[in-house]
Amino acid sequence: MRTRGTDMRARGWWSWLARAGVGLGALLAAGTAQAQEARPWLDPTLPTPRRVDLALGQMTLDEKIAMVHGNFGSILKKTRPDDKRIGAGHVPGVPRLGIPDLYESDASLGVANGGTMRPGDVATALPSSLATAATFDPDIAYEGGAMIGAEARAKGFNVLLAGGANLTRDPWNGRNFEYLGEDPWLTGVMAGAAIRGVQDNGIISTLKHVALNAQESGRYVLDARIDQAALRESDLLAFQVAMERGRPDSVMCAYNKVNGDWSCENDWLLNQVLKRDWGFPGWVMSDWGGVHSTVKAALAGLDQESGQELDREVYFGDPLRAAVDQGAVPAARLDDMVRRILGRLFDRGLVDRPAPDMPQAIDYAAHGLVARRAAEAGAVLLRNEGDLLPLSTALKRVVVIGGHADIGVLSGGGSSQVQAVSGTPLRLPIPNGPANLGFIKITYHGSSPLAALKARLPGAEVTYLDGSDPARAAAAARGADAVLVFAEQWRTEAIDLETLALPDGQDALIAAVAAANPRTAVVLETGGAVLMPWLGKVGAVLEAWYPGDQGGEAIARVLFGEVDAGGRLPLTFPAAEAQAPRPRIPGLENVKAAAAAQASKPRTPGATTVDITGGVQAFDVAYVEGADVGYRWYARTAREPLFPFGYGLSYSRFRHGGFAAQGGAAPSVRFTVTNTGSRPGVDVPQVYALVPAADGKPVRRLVAFKRLELAPGHSATVTLPIDPRLIARFDADGAVWKVTAGLVPLVLASHATADGPTARLSLPALSLKP
Ligand code: BGC
Repeated sequence: MRTRGTDMRARGWWSWLARAGVGLGALLAAGTAQAQEARPWLDPTLPTPRRVDLALGQMTLDEKIAMVHGNFGSILKKTRPDDKRIGAGHVPGVPRLGIPDLYESDASLGVANGGTMRPGDVATALPSSLATAATFDPDIAYEGGAMIGAEARAKGFNVLLAGGANLTRDPWNGRNFEYLGEDPWLTGVMAGAAIRGVQDNGIISTLKHVALNAQESGRYVLDARIDQAALRESDLLAFQVAMERGRPDSVMCAYNKVNGDWSCENDWLLNQVLKRDWGFPGWVMSDWGGVHSTVKAALAGLDQESGQELDREVYFGDPLRAAVDQGAVPAARLDDMVRRILGRLFDRGLVDRPAPDMPQAIDYAAHGLVARRAAEAGAVLLRNEGDLLPLSTALKRVVVIGGHADIGVLSGGGSSQVQAVSGTPLRLPIPNGPANLGFIKITYHGSSPLAALKARLPGAEVTYLDGSDPARAAAAARGADAVLVFAEQWRTEAIDLETLALPDGQDALIAAVAAANPRTAVVLETGGAVLMPWLGKVGAVLEAWYPGDQGGEAIARVLFGEVDAGGRLPLTFPAAEAQAPRPRIPGLENVKAAAAAQASKPRTPGATTVDITGGVQAFDVAYVEGADVGYRWYARTAREPLFPFGYGLSYSRFRHGGFAAQGGAAPSVRFTVTNTGSRPGVDVPQVYALVPAADGKPVRRLVAFKRLELAPGHSATVTLPIDPRLIARFDADGAVWKVTAGLVPLVLASHATADGPTARLSLPALSLKP
């Protein structure tokens, strides 16, 4: 999707020429030809490697060095206060050669502008990535990415820090809402589609954070320890699939160490896996404050230092120049860094069709619908006793409680924060939040579920209570035709959740209201899994995640059955914290001790360097579950979760049949789905293979899925390919994926622990490239 607009300055100039009777086409052609003669790398008909060689041949050492390190965006705020393109980062271009500046913005859920909060600087906020993952629909992920890319381009950005694809290993990770769940195949497919959507606007997306940035506590200091083969079969597989499908031009390395080396100076991760095994042609940029050395990082495969003010020193500035002068970093390696960047700029069109200098008009109404569709399609119906939902518009008395439903919907915090088009009715400071995270606020988008519900109940008495007094709420709920409790769990980058319980007494509130009226539906606005001690007492539960710019409207449409609740869980909801592979946050004590020490220290006025580690002592995190992330861990350890991966109800009913597997080197499955209910509905059939886990016990792995919308009585027969790597084991010694010849049991199911039709897939012995 590309938003067309008009560059006002250009329009003035062009219309003057037209009035003067100058033939515009002829003039442009002559000008372009001249420019190309003088600067032949600007000739779009030349192949990219040739253009790169030509441009590189003209660059001075200073210009090369300038291209491989960039500023934290806040510097731009000071140096170019009027520039609308203030995002997370900026890398100056080479104007004399026609190489553009890189204007970088965070973009997980929209063009992130939460940090600047400039009046009027709004952008369309998608629902959280978990909601998009819950749609199990790569087309929806693509549309979201395309929408963000269109807005970013219209605002003048040309590099988006999108493409978050870390697997959810721990249910309490503060940033789970920004990722796509716990399964490598689902994550890879969805991230790849979103990245493709962004880049189809002629701008660049990252894939991030490589690798194992699986928790926020101590992310700047921790060492993630894991078996290499297990990492290939899990987090790296997700990145690999996303890379193959999305072809991101850039990859962002993570803050943490992986097996002893910082991710941004990890030769195995960057040189061997990413660039050698996967043939990644683009450039590796660091996370902001993720660089720790010059020579080691440059030789290990880092191509660009980002947000340099957050590092201890500008490692890829003067120190890199000195290292090249002294031969510690070969000049050819610096050229390789620059080649990787230039190649992507030429290929993606950043040079030939640059993002505009002046902001362009954006069709926010159309983009709002993209956000709304994703929110609706990703809403997961977890419980619906006696068909309490969908609600009827004929209800006479409805009580709505809590969650600030009168003003809007919750969003997740951190660098992905979007200042939504629908408004920002409330921004609250983090209670007892650390001083260095003052920029992060608990932020609501201005799409009120209460208003959307009232609009559908014109003849009814609809009452709202904020939920602060459970007894009052219960009294109001008694005898109502339906009660809707909105419950919230806020998550943010930089902080993990110490408990999965709903905060601020919401459990007691829900229990009291449900005891007063069993026709109580709970709408959850959470950034991941949450505990539900009241589950058996309530009539219905709808997981709406952080539903984005039009969240209120999307929730109402699902509650009233204007659309089916079509989402399925992209991650396991544990029954208790103790079920998770790490029931407690590793290193939390270190984080708390450092925070206490910081709080007692006076701030140094005028300090120019920041220690983003906050003084936290380093620690290791052992990923004992290895490749068996999420539902595979629950299966391997025979733990029964509250809700399994893939779970979700529909307002209709479905039958699965005709399940058959086609073996060989390019295997596939085929099956038929029939809507046997009386309403149109969404089904998400999932195919799992039984593959031996690390301990030899067979455990399910998701190998195929399909979101289907079917009218009542209608059937669809689908054929889905199976990527043999999903069934293979990674042989770290031989550096190959290995499939053993034999019959692999498959099940067609509606979630990770459900039964269903079975088949056997006959596979030959296969050795697949890493
Ligand atoms: C985050 C990245 C983000 C960067 C720039 C970092 O703290 O981890 O995801 O892109 O900041 O804002």
